[in-house]
Amino acid sequence: MRVSDFRSDTVTRPSREMLEAMVSAELGDDVLEGDPTVARLEARVADLLGKDGAWFVPSGTMANSVAIGSWTRHGDEILLERSAHMVQWEAGAAGALHGVQSTTIVAEDGCMPLEELRRSIRLRSLHCPKTALICVEQTFMGSGAGPGGRVVPLEHLRAIKRLAAEHSIPVHMDGARLMNAVVASGVPAHEYAACADSVSLCLSKGLGCPVGSLIAGPREFLERARLMRKRLGGWMRQSGLLAAAGLYALQNNVQRLAEDHDLAKELASVLDPLPGLECSPDKVESNIVMARVTHPKHTPETLMAELKRRNVLVLPQNATTLRFVTHLDVSTEDVARVVVALDEILG
Ligand SMILES: Cc1ncc(COP(=O)(O)O)c(C=O)c1O
Repeated sequence: MRVSDFRSDTVTRPSREMLEAMVSAELGDDVLEGDPTVARLEARVADLLGKDGAWFVPSGTMANSVAIGSWTRHGDEILLERSAHMVQWEAGAAGALHGVQSTTIVAEDGCMPLEELRRSIRLRSLHCPKTALICVEQTFMGSGAGPGGRVVPLEHLRAIKRLAAEHSIPVHMDGARLMNAVVASGVPAHEYAACADSVSLCLSKGLGCPVGSLIAGPREFLERARLMRKRLGGWMRQSGLLAAAGLYALQNNVQRLAEDHDLAKELASVLDPLPGLECSPDKVESNIVMARVTHPKHTPETLMAELKRRNVLVLPQNATTLRFVTHLDVSTEDVARVVVALDEILG
């Protein structure tokens, strides 16, 4: 029985062509003499993002952690949106691993208001933590009450970068789904990336790789970031095997993200009229659909369980919202199966 898996774009299996690219990759020990395929991937991503270089790491969480550890010192503070992945879903890494305090600003669409950001930057005083980093997320996944997968407008990111520069504060972009924003908006990756000093990029989400993320930035940052990657245990050995999947994905799986975005819109527009669900199809900008559950008899948890019995997998995002993510391994047939299942469940 086919399972329609809308839990995340991380659930994809590598295609035959991707696997072929992996098995034929030229390999080395990246920690010793270097791995040529990893070096090619790092150069490719640095070029894509217009940065001096990039390091290959196992996960988006580690890429973000490398960035925090490289830009801050214990006792510093970082500014970011309250439901940003780095706040909500990274198990408190900023505090636990790097000793920094996270000060959060609420912006359900991911656009932290400039005036509030300005007010949140601390005085340079012995009494205050140093505001050492501002973090933005593109696309903004949105774990709060707002819609998900939003494309933060280029002009807004530019304004944040200008404000940060006035205060000599670096900006880190959690670009786990940056390529979704690129395809949704038509803005080149390097233009978004120019709004940040360091950028993380995930290969294991919409791009369809089994593993891997990169952290890119300027030369001085990269030196600290390399040490941080080493300390976190993220410097891998024959990782060209995984980098080959990344090179394949950047070549073949970027433009097709538009299909995921179209499917997400289609899904939102068929879910929205169902009793007890609200999805705002007009607010779906990339591959994430947040469905607010208003049904008197159901919660996101009960719907998840009922859907699972019908071989449809989804995740509750919070107490009121169910999340659907489109990706390489779901199609219009899977959307049709969701609708049949929900018709049965919601009555
Ligand atoms: C916006 C965002 N940033 C970072 C990450 C972390 O990526 P990983 O699961 O590879 O650690 C995710 C994962 O879903 C994400 O959605």
